[in-house]
Amino acid sequence: MADNSTTTERAAGAEKPRTIHPIVKYGDPILEKPTAPVTRFDAKLAELCEEMFATMYAAQGVGLAAPQIGRSLQVAVVDVTGGKNPEARIVLANPEIIHGEGEKREEEGCLSIPGFRGYVVRPQFVTVRAQNAQGEWFEMRGEDLLARAFCHEIDHLHGILFLKHLSMLKRDLIKRKIKKLRKQGEW
Ligand code: NI
Repeated sequence: MADNSTTTERAAGAEKPRTIHPIVKYGDPILEKPTAPVTRFDAKLAELCEEMFATMYAAQGVGLAAPQIGRSLQVAVVDVTGGKNPEARIVLANPEIIHGEGEKREEEGCLSIPGFRGYVVRPQFVTVRAQNAQGEWFEMRGEDLLARAFCHEIDHLHGILFLKHLSMLKRDLIKRKIKKLRKQGEW
């Protein structure tokens, strides 16, 4: 999910440099197909998660799902602090939303649909159940932006983009504009 703020501050620290992947854009079929469950919680998966965080921070996002870097796997990363607080880094492997409450209508964007935003109604509170990069199950409750990020990223893992939650009018408008950009070689 794209960030709302304009801050470019990033967490300091001596972390090893990670591969930053190109982000797959809307139009690539991988974004619209359901992903496969994670079955191996090994060093490769841990590295994939680190690369997803690095890619997300580089793009100034607050969430990123594996299909967005070309991997059709049920894993997403979320950090609504944009890298400012290491404890806010969340890996969601095989996640599911087990509870949602309330409603909130806010503007939403997606790193795979750069330059376009739209209002989406999401639950204000969401409880997610998922595995971390080590395969340990946990439950976490999120509110507002965190709840929205959980919903947005878990949608990605089911092949659903935020466009699906927009009015048909708004969705068609965005799709037309993207088509035009693609013709111009700008997408
Ligand atoms: Ni997205």
